[in-house]
Amino acid sequence: MGRQVWYITTPIYYPDDSLHVGHAYTTVAADALARFHRLLGDDVLFVTGTDEHGQKIQKKADQAGKVPLEFVTPIVEWIRGSLWKRLGISYDDFIRTTEERHYRVVQTIFQKLLDQGDIYKGVYEGWYCLPDESYWTESKLIDGKCPDCGRPVERVQQESYFFRLGRYQSQLHDYIEAHPDFIQPPSRRNEMLNFIDAGLEDLSISRTGVSWGIPVPGDPDHVIYVWFDALTNYITAAGYLQDPAKFEMVWPANVHLVGKEIVRFHTVIWPVILMALGLPLPHRVFGHGWLLIGQAKMGKSLGNAVDPIQLLDRYGVDPVRHYLLREVPFGADGSYTEDALILRTNVDLANDLGNLLSRTTAMINRFSGGVVPAFIAGEDDGVLSGEVASVHREVKVAMDQLAISDALTSIFRLVGRANKYIEEQKPWELAKTGQTTRLNNVLYGLWETLRVLSVLLTPFLLETPGKIRHQLGLDEPVKNYDEAMFGFKAAGVAIQRQAALFPRLERPKREADIGDDSKTPEITPEDFQKLDFRVGTVRSCEVVDGADRLLKLTVFDGSRERTIVSGIRQHYQPDQLVGQQVVLVANLKPVKLRGILSEGMLLAGSQGDLLSLVAPLDRLPEGARVK
Ligand code: MSP
Repeated sequence: MGRQVWYITTPIYYPDDSLHVGHAYTTVAADALARFHRLLGDDVLFVTGTDEHGQKIQKKADQAGKVPLEFVTPIVEWIRGSLWKRLGISYDDFIRTTEERHYRVVQTIFQKLLDQGDIYKGVYEGWYCLPDESYWTESKLIDGKCPDCGRPVERVQQESYFFRLGRYQSQLHDYIEAHPDFIQPPSRRNEMLNFIDAGLEDLSISRTGVSWGIPVPGDPDHVIYVWFDALTNYITAAGYLQDPAKFEMVWPANVHLVGKEIVRFHTVIWPVILMALGLPLPHRVFGHGWLLIGQAKMGKSLGNAVDPIQLLDRYGVDPVRHYLLREVPFGADGSYTEDALILRTNVDLANDLGNLLSRTTAMINRFSGGVVPAFIAGEDDGVLSGEVASVHREVKVAMDQLAISDALTSIFRLVGRANKYIEEQKPWELAKTGQTTRLNNVLYGLWETLRVLSVLLTPFLLETPGKIRHQLGLDEPVKNYDEAMFGFKAAGVAIQRQAALFPRLERPKREADIGDDSKTPEITPEDFQKLDFRVGTVRSCEVVDGADRLLKLTVFDGSRERTIVSGIRQHYQPDQLVGQQVVLVANLKPVKLRGILSEGMLLAGSQGDLLSLVAPLDRLPEGARVK
């Protein structure tokens, strides 16, 4: 066996229109995984590309009055040369299904499966969904519509080639049972097992009446079904039938990263093609969730697509990547909002990380003449080095499980710990009282933690790690994951303090802010139902240091105590509120205010300078719903 390559893929995207933030989401995630594995020292092959054939593209090209290849090429160029470039997508190969190398592989394997009887020619009678390019039997339709997309289907009867999926049903079932990691997350695995056990029908894998595709060898009236063509890209890019030595090192893929709506193609049709070819199956197909706008999937067809280039222009690459990778647990659906992107940037990057760097370099300047002091191991409390060691481990474990947002959560916990360490150690007092050894160890520890952070952040953020390193006085790029451990010989390194790492972004005033009298748009009763107002009782209340508008309250909501930070300090004394009933918004996404996680909001009426908290006229049990 040759050296194994760590091979990761994204879906190949339809170049029928500009791509949106949803597509960027998959690709940025794959990029972070690829960069992480390179940092581990793996030989990585990261492939993305475009899925250019099929009726849908042909139709769009017709509408534009162009031949399909002429229609898709500028879009492909934009994806490759503009979008992925600006997002820093470090792919090793970009495959277009219109390339010669791919054409040949698809035709050869079609012929092979035909020769061995896994493909046969027959007549298809049933229903066809044009936008999805998929055939359906009567029994699979839902209310007479396509079960996948809910759009109308048309009755068709035509000659077609069929792929004997059914032949491989039990082999596929057994494979999935025996390889728990093959389909992830586990919920998608169960869904697929149920689908397979319900029975696999032979699949129509050719189309007549479509000219834009790869012709069936020897029968050019038929073009090969676009999904058969598209899935095969994964072995074309691995060198199948072109470069046997490469293919041996690259295949099977370690991860196919896909959105949840195409898990079925990747865990039923694709494995059966591979089984029929006698090839091993990919180690993992990971189906991630969707970015939603409100309750709906962000998508071209719904017209709610967000343009990634606009976001990049407005916020820069690292805030966009950080938001996409950190905000939503990888695997689950999550809502996209620009407000959340701004908040993420301000809280994590500008405040927590930016302040840590700025405070550390300022203190090294002030207390150590701008150079990193020597570290006296025997005198150290081990707090930061201990936290670094745990985070180094946790990030590796999280990335192995493709829990990308968990990896970032661990990294930012380290940032938080280091900031807290400054408050605990008060280096300015150590300096005043002449505790030099202690002071030097604290300064070294903070510098070292930032250096480790520059390593840990390397797979996720593009510009920030280098900027941090530059300020730390390090100009060598990061090379290996194990640099993310304490022990760098830093004594004497001269720091280069510079401007703030991230400027704070201005957040448009939120309509829910207290005191905001701006006009709000009309909502439906369904919209109103989404708000969960509850009665709660204030258990304790205190001022927030350094914030002249804020009070921090503990409110019992019937099931637990929540911390709520509210901008009412100028209207209430803390002890006035203890024991009072209030109304809180219980399903508001928690936000960090002044470093405190606020889990809800209190309702208050206000006009001009007047403000009054809203409370029930009579006492109610805590947790009572307000409607
Ligand atoms: N061409 C097929 C894939 C063939 S793979 C052999 C295809 N292309 S697509 O252009 O429609 O891209 C689909 C992929 O884009 C999804 O699987 C998902 O990875 C990503 N996303 C598109 N919209 C998305 C969201 N709203 N949210 C998250 N990811 C989304 O399907």
